[in-house]
Amino acid sequence: MTPAIQHLISRIQNHRCHSHPIFMHWAQVDPEPEVIGALFHQIQKFCAATRPGGNFPAALDLLGMSEQSGLMQEIVESEEDHGPELAMMAGHIINRAAETQIHPELQDQAAIEKWLKSCSDRLLGNLPGYDPASGLTVQARAAIAVFERRQRTDRDSTFRNMGSALALEMISNRHLIPGEKLCLVDSGLYRATLDEPEMHYLLEHWGEIGAEQMHEKNAIEAVQHLLTEESARQITQGADEFLDSLTGLWDVLDASLLRSGYTDDRLAA
Ligand SMILES: [Fe+2]
Ligand SMILES: [Fe+2]
Repeated sequence: MTPAIQHLISRIQNHRCHSHPIFMHWAQVDPEPEVIGALFHQIQKFCAATRPGGNFPAALDLLGMSEQSGLMQEIVESEEDHGPELAMMAGHIINRAAETQIHPELQDQAAIEKWLKSCSDRLLGNLPGYDPASGLTVQARAAIAVFERRQRTDRDSTFRNMGSALALEMISNRHLIPGEKLCLVDSGLYRATLDEPEMHYLLEHWGEIGAEQMHEKNAIEAVQHLLTEESARQITQGADEFLDSLTGLWDVLDASLLRSGYTDDRLAA
C-alpha cells in the first residue's frame, strides 16, 4: 500500500464514526420493540440509499477510470436485493424482543417497513426538521444526500464519490456490521444466531468471507491508484462528508432512543 492510501485509511479509522458506541448502547439498554422499530427505520433507509450505483460507475468509465468502474460495479451488484433480507431480520428481532408475533409474515417487506416507520414517527416525529412523509430525521437526510451525488458525472463529484465509497465500505465492514452483530446476536437479547435463516442478512455481510470484506478490498484497490495530488483533496473531502453525516445520524439516534447508553442501573449506582 502506498503512504497516501495508508494515510487516508488511518483518517477513516480515527474518525469518531468508526468507534461510535451506538451499537454497544443498544446492547446495554435493551430497547423496547418500538424503539428497535424506530432505529431500524432510520438504519434501513440509510442503507438503502447507499446501495444503488447511480451514474457513478458510468462516470468513472467516461473519465477514463475503467478499472475503478469495474470494482465499484461489483459492489453495486453484490448489494442488489438486500432490502428484503434486512426487513426480515428487523421483523424477526422485533418479534423476539416483543415475545409475540408482531410480524407474522417476515417475507412481507412492505408491511414490516410500514411498521418501522410508524415507530419512527411516534418516537422521533417531534425532532426539529423530521420529515413526516419519509419518516427521516434531518441527520438521516444529510447522510443519504451524500449518495445522491452519485447522479453527477463531473470529475470533482466523481472523486468525492470515490472517497465516500471507501469510507462507506470501511465503516460497513468494521463498524456497522460488527455493531449489528454485537447488539443483535452477541448480546443474547434476542436468542438470535447467525445460522437462523431470518438472520441471513447479517451472515452474508459479516466476517472474513462476508460481502463487506470484499467491498472494502475493492474500494481500497480502486482508491489506491487514484490518489494523486490532484485528486487527494476531493477524495478526502468525500470520505469526511460520509463520516461526519453518519456520525450526526448515530448521535441523534443514540441520544434520543438509547439515552446515549445511560441505563437505570447506572442511575441507581
Ligand atoms: Fe448489503
Ligand atoms: Fe458494502
